Amino acid sequence: EFNQEQQELENYTSNYINMLPLMNTSTEIITIPVVVHILYNDNLENISDDQIQSQLDSLNKDFRAQNADISSIPSVFEPLVADIGIEFCLANKDPNGNISTGINRVYTENTSFSYNNNSMKFSSQGGVDIWDSKRYLNIWVCNISGNILGFAQFPGGPANTDGVVVDYKYFGSIGTATYPYDLGRTLTHEVGHWLNLRHIWGDSYCGDDEVDDTPTQQESNGGCPTFPLLSCNNGPNGDMFMNYMDYTDDACMHLFTRGQKNRMIAALNL
Ligand code: ARG
Ligand code: ZN
Ligand code: CA
Repeated sequence: EFNQEQQELENYTSNYINMLPLMNTSTEIITIPVVVHILYNDNLENISDDQIQSQLDSLNKDFRAQNADISSIPSVFEPLVADIGIEFCLANKDPNGNISTGINRVYTENTSFSYNNNSMKFSSQGGVDIWDSKRYLNIWVCNISGNILGFAQFPGGPANTDGVVVDYKYFGSIGTATYPYDLGRTLTHEVGHWLNLRHIWGDSYCGDDEVDDTPTQQESNGGCPTFPLLSCNNGPNGDMFMNYMDYTDDACMHLFTRGQKNRMIAALNL
């Protein structure tokens, strides 16, 4: 079912991109209500409102191409930078219509949650149940076991596990945020997946991310490479290692491209 949903979205996305030159696309900003579920077993994991706000701020900057480090992008890639035109706000009502801060703090007996079984998304497993995925972007913040910064569910997956998960040590840019993943880019990356973006290297050797304006690259990059970094005959400009969908350090990622924007908007439309 998941594969079929994804195939339908791929078909829709390529049609959408083919039709774009003929379309009168809207410049209206899309605002997505967010609920941040904070699952804590100790005080450290119960991160502050200010830390959560620091994360919302950087997410919004990144999605509107208003991040200060945009000036570090090599000039050859500058024309590809996209303002995605999506903003995120903490929800002001819960699913029952009651006033809410959009922050849902829940104590858990679990000292950590494993990656891959979605236990943080179910109250019955020590987590907290999703808020209607048609109305909210659900973000679970918890202690994830292993060295996983975060993970996301792609569009077309089960409705009760939709959303993204980020470890409390890599959320926002103050408090528990830990170098070199301390500028909120894990969430930017995960929301990219949630809106159907693949890793920039296509998860295989010189793979395909289904985006035309991101150069083909051999594999993931880590740390903070120096421009230009060549692979897969992608000279002279080389890898776009400063893209949010690579694996570089937070301080070294600065953009989504126009092609990535088209995929994200197509996913939202469908
Ligand atoms: N490994 C995670 C994923 O593939 C997140 C990587 C985030 N990178 C970062 N620099 N914050 O979804
Ligand atoms: Zn990823
Ligand atoms: Ca590409």
